[in-house]
Amino acid sequence: MPETDRTRLIASATRRGLGRRVVNPPLERGSTLLSDRAEDMRDASLGPVYGLDGLAPQRALADALAEMEGACRTLLAPSGLSALTTPLLALTRAGDEVVASDAIYGPSRRFLTRFLATRGVTTRFHAPGASPEEIAGFIGPATRLILIESPASLTFEMMDVAALSAVARERGALTVMDNTWAAGLAFKPLQHGVDVSVQAVTKYVAGHSDVLLGAMSVADPTIARALANAVEDLGLHVSPDDAWLALRGLRTLPVRLQAHEKAALRVAEWLERRPEVARVLYPPLPGSEGHPLWSRDYSGAAGLMGVVMRDWDEARAQAFMNRLTLFGLGYSWGGFESLITHETGQLSLRARPPRLEGALLRLHVGLEDPHDLIADLSRAFTE
Ligand SMILES: Cc1ncc(COP(=O)(O)O)c(C=O)c1O
Repeated sequence: MPETDRTRLIASATRRGLGRRVVNPPLERGSTLLSDRAEDMRDASLGPVYGLDGLAPQRALADALAEMEGACRTLLAPSGLSALTTPLLALTRAGDEVVASDAIYGPSRRFLTRFLATRGVTTRFHAPGASPEEIAGFIGPATRLILIESPASLTFEMMDVAALSAVARERGALTVMDNTWAAGLAFKPLQHGVDVSVQAVTKYVAGHSDVLLGAMSVADPTIARALANAVEDLGLHVSPDDAWLALRGLRTLPVRLQAHEKAALRVAEWLERRPEVARVLYPPLPGSEGHPLWSRDYSGAAGLMGVVMRDWDEARAQAFMNRLTLFGLGYSWGGFESLITHETGQLSLRARPPRLEGALLRLHVGLEDPHDLIADLSRAFTE
């Protein structure tokens, strides 16, 4: 039996007993599926009945993700955001409370405070990086769900996910984790007691900045059924072309993620020594705030980090970004390319915005040679 994810993710493509075939599933496209006999038309044991049920590429991707996540079932959604909003919607009802970090991904926060709040589900926000004991103080009789994101968006605080999941379970609350940073590979939420492991497949699994897609992985069949019903009721659909591309990305995810981590650590260590930099927010960096939890729980890392500049204002950050030649100016992350963005007001939406030493940059270290990336950064600092 193959031992590691790196082997398993490829071995699932080459398994025997399926007859002569191409390596990857056929790229089927279709809304309508035809049957030979009227009696067969609704028989799901003969395969999908309608395009919304998912064709070969969507099924193969969901199965491969479920295997990687250790899930009984993985459900696909058309974006990472919809993979987060679907369980929040499916698992709560009016009168329930959600508990989440003040540093969760902005659009997740918007869904909680704009969509769910007007439908009777309220959210309590705890300080980023709070301990499970502190978060326990936010759990009341109405708390139905805890939304975990670790490391957090923009400021990269880590959470003790296993301890928090245990507290939630004890108090009768479910846990949903946005695990996009670890790509479902470097950290396995379901093994740490999380109920729903979510990731934006858009990022590292797809890996080439050409697909938007999300996944929800679940170990408990009852929760899987609730999510599958929501996907069906909402009519969520992922295109076979996008699923096919994501499956192709998934086969090489372990080697790409390792390369991102290795290069990002070099860049982070170099940045940390620059006088212009106040702090590098990257949990794999020894001595950083999140490092103890990262080294205890994670087998790898993403190439995404925050960089707090010493006394820089927005104009200085923008001038620096404009001088870079190898870092694309664009949102998202997880593709092969290096990217840089700067924070422009998202932190002020938090209940307690952090006080930083200066402008906050977000770097995605791609698969270029880290020597070249460092030379580019160095030139942009000194020019
Ligand atoms: C932490 C995190 N979660 C979820 C998402 C949403 O992914 P998508 O763009 O596929 O909706 C993003 C996108 O930037 C993200 O950064």
